[in-house]
Amino acid sequence: MPIISFANPKGGAGKTTSALLLAGELAAKGARVTIIDADPERWISQWAKLPGKPATIDIIADVSEDTIVDHIESAAKKAQFVIVDLEGTASLMVANAIGMSDLVLIPTQGASMDAKGAAKTIKLIRNQERMARRTIAHSVLLTRTSAAVASRALRNVRDQLDKAGIDVLTTSIVERAAYRDIFDYGGLLSDLTPDQVSNVEKARENARAFAGEVIGRLKSAAAAPKVA
Ligand SMILES: Nc1ncnc2c1ncn2[C@@H]1O[C@H](COP(=O)(O)OP(=O)(O)OP(=O)(O)O)[C@@H](O)[C@H]1O
Ligand SMILES: [Mg+2]
Repeated sequence: MPIISFANPKGGAGKTTSALLLAGELAAKGARVTIIDADPERWISQWAKLPGKPATIDIIADVSEDTIVDHIESAAKKAQFVIVDLEGTASLMVANAIGMSDLVLIPTQGASMDAKGAAKTIKLIRNQERMARRTIAHSVLLTRTSAAVASRALRNVRDQLDKAGIDVLTTSIVERAAYRDIFDYGGLLSDLTPDQVSNVEKARENARAFAGEVIGRLKSAAAAPKVA
């Protein structure tokens, strides 16, 4: 039922990677997940052709500005979670998907160009909220962070978002080879073995914590007043 979109007009912010990680974690817990692949690069559709895609994850590709609303609506009737991987532009398709979402996650790298993209997404969300006269829960997800050090740029981005009153997930998606490898090998993080890639266990823990936080945000969004 809940619709979770990943949006940031900045290309390479980590939308597709985090969308697949979330889908994998939810499916691993036994949920039925539909991913709407609205990224023109179709990484998730290509991943789905590799061996190891769980039967509980369905992928819908070939979506356009005209069809995305229909696809999201019909997916939400069947799946327990609908995840929308959006293109790296601020288009009408992105606005439509945001307008239908229960939660918008804004993947953002700890650099100012990404933060500008995040600000654009938040503007888009605010406009959709005004048009639909309802609140749309949204959180920034910091991506590709270093496992070892919190950089100055990253601290800066977190501080600025805090000051602007924008929710930032406590869990960030760390830079991990495992997150690239699932797109090459197929399957889920749980299928990767330590001899294939380093720090698999840490990657799994990180993805689990991220999914747990997303579930928490969905619960608070469901309990919050809906009128903007
Ligand atoms: N946490 C991570 N660890 C390692 N590599 C990552 C991580 N996040 C993203 N990447 C890599 O960075 C690149 C861009 O990531 P991704 O495709 O997820 O971004 P995107 O926001 O979907 O981009 P686009 O706007 O082009 O759709 C990819 O090569 C991906 O493998
Ligand atoms: Mg993408």
